[in-house]
Amino acid sequence: MDRYGTVVNCKGVTKSYGTGAARVHALRGVDLEIRYGEVLMLVGPSGSGKTTLLSLISGILDPDDGECAVLDHVYRDFSATERARFRGRAIGFVFQAFNLLPSLTAAENVAVPMLINGISRRDAALKARRMLDAIGLGGRVDALPDQLSGGEQQRVAVARALVHGPKILLCDEPTSNLDHASGDHVMEMLRREALAPDRAVVVVTHDIRLFRFADRITHLEDGMLVESNPGRTRETSP
Ligand SMILES: Nc1ncnc2c1ncn2[C@@H]1O[C@H](COP(=O)(O)OP(=O)(O)OP(=O)(O)O)[C@@H](O)[C@H]1O
Ligand SMILES: [Mg+2]
Repeated sequence: MDRYGTVVNCKGVTKSYGTGAARVHALRGVDLEIRYGEVLMLVGPSGSGKTTLLSLISGILDPDDGECAVLDHVYRDFSATERARFRGRAIGFVFQAFNLLPSLTAAENVAVPMLINGISRRDAALKARRMLDAIGLGGRVDALPDQLSGGEQQRVAVARALVHGPKILLCDEPTSNLDHASGDHVMEMLRREALAPDRAVVVVTHDIRLFRFADRITHLEDGMLVESNPGRTRETSP
């Protein structure tokens, strides 16, 4: 933990896609600090750059300019192997499109990050089943992704991102396919399982009902951070 209590520190990051007339400026100079022990919600209109920002924090993409220091590391200092190892250990990512592996069962999908981190097959399988049970999918552990509903696939994706105890959990609209009660259940689980004084959770959402689970809410518009407000944690909500 650095002395500023900052787990992610993005400074002046810009990112464009495409070239010439097709060029899109997805991020136009974003400064963002994410603190240890907080759930930060990132909100903003479609196309405002939310997924792009998560992709830079996770090292899936590199910025054109500026940089994100993550756990005091900068991705450009890493080799490709070091980057992959760091991401596999330190970061959990719930993708907007889930990105489950289609030929693996729900339990096998959830076991993947643990296997990557050297946990035995037996322990990984056990832990995967336990995590799926906790997220309400105990009866569907052996189903393939295309045998699951959208909301069930989304919960598998959440379980997979959580299960190896990442320092930083990045969730891209993790409740978009869930009803109100299941969405609350997932957010409660995220706070309980993924949050600790030496960890942080970032949640992109359009769902204002989730704001009560946030410690801080930051607004992104047209590639720029425009506003940051304290959230209303569960303890302070009615
Ligand atoms: N691979 C890509 N190639 C070209 N343009 C892209 C690509 N990915 C994103 N963009 C563009 O960059 C901008 C920001 O996209 P991004 O996916 O970060 O937005 P978002 O805030 O996550 O939107 P949403 O709420 O719809 O998921 C958009 O204008 C989008 O069209
Ligand atoms: Mg997005």
